[in-house]
Amino acid sequence: MTTWTLITGASEGLGVEFARLAARNGRNMILTARSEDKLQALATELRSPEVDVVVIPADLNDMAQVDKMWAQASKDRQIDYLINNAGLGSNDAFADAESWDRELASINVNILALNRLMKLAIAHMAVQRSGRILNVASVAAFVPGPNMAVYHATKAYVLSLSEAVRHELRGTGITVTALCPGATQTQFFEAADMTSARILKLSPPARADQVAEAGWKGALAGRAVVVPGLLNKLSAFMPRLSPRAITVSLTAFIMAKEK
Ligand SMILES: NC(=O)c1ccc[n+]([C@@H]2O[C@H](COP(=O)([O-])OP(=O)(O)OC[C@H]3O[C@@H](n4cnc5c(N)ncnc54)[C@H](OP(=O)(O)O)[C@@H]3O)[C@@H](O)[C@H]2O)c1
Repeated sequence: MTTWTLITGASEGLGVEFARLAARNGRNMILTARSEDKLQALATELRSPEVDVVVIPADLNDMAQVDKMWAQASKDRQIDYLINNAGLGSNDAFADAESWDRELASINVNILALNRLMKLAIAHMAVQRSGRILNVASVAAFVPGPNMAVYHATKAYVLSLSEAVRHELRGTGITVTALCPGATQTQFFEAADMTSARILKLSPPARADQVAEAGWKGALAGRAVVVPGLLNKLSAFMPRLSPRAITVSLTAFIMAKEK
């Protein structure tokens, strides 16, 4: 039976690279995000006699649209690879009342939509006793992030959920992988109003195609957690050794905007 890869957040950044990987691997794909024009342009670029591409625009900030998108995507199609990639951050002091709309959107997209799609996908994949789920978390999952507190908390949720559900699914043929990238060259920092963040000066952001490939391969190999790059591996590991208060202060320094 023909199988499909569903990629969320496929209009920009890592999502585009996941779609290119799917095409290179001869996999049919369903692309979703809000920007239909960008998705259609990508679909035109990637469609071939070997690869079918379907576009389903949806706003994952709206749970009714999440369910509707899944229903359309999975109708008469076997989805055996879900890439839960859509996500956003907000770089604001938590006390700032103005930041609520963006924080709420990041909770909805990064947590609720991801959780819901994962649950729907597992029930769907269980019929074939086979499937791969790749959840895009972040190195932010390993540390609390002052001035990006909600974003870091959403990614800690994604990592925790992925590892726990992966354990529950042992022996089912379905695996869950958490991809935890560090700073990567995408629209993310513009979207989060963070182009002057110190982290971008301290080490050059990774290439999106390389980060996506690490996640893609890790998920197909059934790995639990993928942290691409040596510096990111270190920043994922160091919080286990250092006192929590120092980790929080250091993260605040690294993520702060430079004047
Ligand atoms: N770039 C980094 O440094 C970095 C590091 C670690 C983790 N990550 C994670 O990597 C993932 C991909 O981000 P990226 O870096 O590729 O950022 P990006 O270039 O800003 O792309 C974000 C994607 O998410 C989609 N999205 C945002 N809000 C959405 C909504 N309400 N409904 C549906 N789709 C929505 C966007 O599509 P539309 O705007 O068209 O809806 C876009 O396709 C995210 O989960 C992010 O947290 C990024």
